[in-house]
Amino acid sequence: MNTKVERLPLASEARPALRLEQLRIRIAARLQMGLYGKFTRYGLCRDLSMPFEAPHAKIPLEVRRASASDLDAVLDLNDPANSAQDRIEIAWRRAFAEKGAQRCYVAVDLRDNTPCYVHWLFNAADTPFLQQFPNLPRLAPHEALLEDCYTSVKYRGLGIMAEAMARIAERAADIGCSHVITFVDQQNIASLKGCQRAGFDPHLLHHRTQLAFGLVQKNSFVPLAANDPRRTLKF
Ligand SMILES: CC(C)(COP(=O)(O)OP(=O)(O)OC[C@H]1O[C@@H](n2cnc3c(N)ncnc32)[C@H](O)[C@@H]1OP(=O)(O)O)[C@@H](O)C(=O)NCCC(=O)NCCS
Repeated sequence: MNTKVERLPLASEARPALRLEQLRIRIAARLQMGLYGKFTRYGLCRDLSMPFEAPHAKIPLEVRRASASDLDAVLDLNDPANSAQDRIEIAWRRAFAEKGAQRCYVAVDLRDNTPCYVHWLFNAADTPFLQQFPNLPRLAPHEALLEDCYTSVKYRGLGIMAEAMARIAERAADIGCSHVITFVDQQNIASLKGCQRAGFDPHLLHHRTQLAFGLVQKNSFVPLAANDPRRTLKF
């Protein structure tokens, strides 16, 4: 089993103007968080021992480990199709990669080899990196975490998340995991639908209370009772 992973250097690391723009967007997003906020996310889980057939996107896809140029292509801050929210999502993910997030996967549109989707996969061996993020739980040895997916704007609504996430989740078996978890804001219906189509169902709630622009956080992870109707909710 080869678990060696490499950090991916992004173009922004060599381009100060791009780096400054990322920083500006992230500071503005932090300020938007305000002095106080309370949020709930669903924790969703897929048990890899349960038979599941990955759905097919509306375009042919290859799923493989991402290179730095794949990340630069999908997380394109200057894509004119980006909304203000997309720019925040991109700036956050670029910073995540620059901090050393490893084991990123990409989905590539096989019609013209365009990278169109990214998603990071972690296991308990990544704890030293993950523990700098208080909103993520400590992983058990059998658990993998899928974090921070992103579909390029012009590729949305083609079922790419559902197929790519389903196939990336299966790679967790190669790093010794039997269960894969992920977290999604309760309001992010597109992502919740994608997760469910990729074989994930809600199994816990993550409550976060934050103060001072998110700089102070209190997080709790509360399993849903076995008979809680949210376990079988269809998004
Ligand atoms: C969430 C996200 C990854 C979904 O990607 P995707 O590849 O478009 O997902 P799918 O094609 O599998 O579609 C899932 C749902 O997305 C919704 N959707 C979102 N944007 C859409 C668009 N531009 N056109 C059509 N449907 C869209 C649809 O409701 C679709 O459900 P439906 O098929 O019942 O209509 C993508 O919207 C994204 O990158 N968002 C910003 C980052 C983010 O929120 N990441 C998730 C963090 S948990």
